[in-house]
Amino acid sequence: MNKNWWKNAAIYQIYPRSFQDSNGDGIGDLNGIIQRLDHLKYLGVDAIWLSPVYESPNIDNGYDISDYQKINPEYGTMEDMDRLIEEADKRSIKIIMDLVINHTSSQHFWFQEALKSKDNPYHDYYIWRTSADSNLPNSLMADSASAWEYVPSLDEYYLHLHSKEQPDLNWKNPEMKKAIWKMIIYWLEKGIGGFRLDVIDLIGKEPDKLITKNGPELHPLIHELNQETFGNYNVVTVGETWGATPEIAKLYSNPERKELSMVFQFEHINLDKQAGKRKWDLKALDPQKLHQVFSKWQRQLKNEGWNALFWNNHDLPRIISRWGDDSRQYRELSGKMLAIYLYFMSGTPYIYQGEEIGMTNYEISDISEVNDIESRQMYYDRLDKGYSKEEILQSINTKGRDNARHPMQWDLSTNAGFTTATPWLVVHPNYKDINVETALAKQNSLFFTYKELIELRKNNYDIINGEYEILNTGNPDVLAYIRYKENEKIIVVVNFSKQLQQYSLQINLNHSKCLIHNYNTKINNSNELQAYEAFAVKVSGNNL
Ligand code: GLC
Ligand code: CA
Repeated sequence: MNKNWWKNAAIYQIYPRSFQDSNGDGIGDLNGIIQRLDHLKYLGVDAIWLSPVYESPNIDNGYDISDYQKINPEYGTMEDMDRLIEEADKRSIKIIMDLVINHTSSQHFWFQEALKSKDNPYHDYYIWRTSADSNLPNSLMADSASAWEYVPSLDEYYLHLHSKEQPDLNWKNPEMKKAIWKMIIYWLEKGIGGFRLDVIDLIGKEPDKLITKNGPELHPLIHELNQETFGNYNVVTVGETWGATPEIAKLYSNPERKELSMVFQFEHINLDKQAGKRKWDLKALDPQKLHQVFSKWQRQLKNEGWNALFWNNHDLPRIISRWGDDSRQYRELSGKMLAIYLYFMSGTPYIYQGEEIGMTNYEISDISEVNDIESRQMYYDRLDKGYSKEEILQSINTKGRDNARHPMQWDLSTNAGFTTATPWLVVHPNYKDINVETALAKQNSLFFTYKELIELRKNNYDIINGEYEILNTGNPDVLAYIRYKENEKIIVVVNFSKQLQQYSLQINLNHSKCLIHNYNTKINNSNELQAYEAFAVKVSGNNL
């Protein structure tokens, strides 16, 4: 297998709890995923990133791991996991595991031992500080609460950058590092396709200096991790790095440095929040800013790194509700526009479950409908601070993580075919319109746009990874770019708005060949675009 297989791959993220239940307990599971592999094969995916399926008390739905080498019984057994790897492999699909090594669950054996005494060999696997008086060691915060939790029996505080049930590991402890490496090799030896590394930019933290992301030891640590573990296998690695700039992303993903294959950067994702505030503090998206951000990343990582391309994941609201339009009239059109815009960018695309059929946000009217720990904590915190209930619910409905976590919508049967029991989180009532069965029955559905785009990317790899330039359209809502390699060019033009837009390109598209278009009409060379109209064309030869 080619060492850079992941550069030409499409990766599909599964949130196992919500994908497919196979045993009627209302919770998605590994056997459910096996049942649905053919759907993924048909879509054209090469690998699955599986959100955590390890043993966990589920305070943060599996991102709090209590045993890295056991499967959460809700999801199945290790035999089921092995079978999933095997069944996926039969379809040439790789399994990418989620690697949560910034912290463990407080239920992990290591932490339970660490609590016993300061002399316990596991004590130093975590980060502890004492304080002479009852003041906290310092002002580090986990969201809106202190990041330090006091343990009276030890008269010490431990650090947790997430919930207090997720204590941070001490990456300065050599024994802890070795234990993690060993665990990683255990998974690699099963023949998995790689790892997604959860909040990996936190592992070089210096809590006493209030440094969390991008600490001084971060890159040496990741290089070491690479050399001791996955660097010796033909796998893909993608880091979750909220703090990455293009310069930092190059440190991770320049192959010469032997760190990671790529990182998820979040600069575009942060464009609809108020500067310096939290994601809950909403602001409208400026499409021109979005275009500038994407263009910057395209240019800066060229030859020196690699991009991960995504609109969605299990922490983000549904993209059509967010930056498209989830009304009946425009849902699929705007979804296609967003996909066409992204899929001629250089990098590896990630599709989050349900994105391919255009699933939408789920609106709540009361906090009792929310499972997600992050939204719940924010809700009570902001109520205390005097925000109105309406305002907080609006933030949750717009940005809350549950939006992405409602069950996958498969068909028209009860609970959308996700489960025969009561689902752990309700199925969106719009499932009768939005489901895989209906999408497959409709020749021009969003699903087929995704399928086609995945294929187009493979057939035009060299151009898509060629040069990149922004094309000026004279209209801030019309985004355009060109990719080219020698005499072959692809031009992408999208109307990011619901209004009819005029635009002008300095290029004549008369002799171009249409690659994809979200309207069932001929591309109009009159320089007018309908609501959310988007297309990509190919031009060969010198006629530009
Ligand atoms: C990452 C995960 C998120 C989790 C957090 C803590 O951001 O994507 O779901 O809550 O890390 O592990
Ligand atoms: Ca189940």
